Amino acid sequence: MSHVVTEACINCKYTECVDACPADCFYEGPNMLVIDPQACVDCGMCVSACPVDAIVPENRVPADQLEFIAFNASMSGTLWPSIVKSKARMPDADHWAKIPQKRHVLTPPSVGPGVDLGSSNDTGR
Ligand code: F3S
Repeated sequence: MSHVVTEACINCKYTECVDACPADCFYEGPNMLVIDPQACVDCGMCVSACPVDAIVPENRVPADQLEFIAFNASMSGTLWPSIVKSKARMPDADHWAKIPQKRHVLTPPSVGPGVDLGSSNDTGR
């Protein structure tokens, strides 16, 4: 089992999770991080480090977030670069932290092989 970064991370990227991880299993996209399920040691240290509760154990991913299991797997390792040290959050992170449905602003959208994250009409503003 692994841990999974879900929709709450989008446009936030607080990156506290990265410093908490003992296995360097995070990968960074333009506006979201993912976890490499092959590298995750399932310690759970990142869960409490995330201020927006974006990280959950794979067996507790909510029904409306299940697509992110495949998305984490497909984007980590090859498509997105590794991140091993925290950095500044995204400029509007505190605004986006209050918006639950924001997969439509994921960059790039739904590019993982065989992964369809769907969309919503929430503009986030
Ligand atoms: Fe994202 Fe939370 Fe890490 S917002 S970058 S999963 S600390």
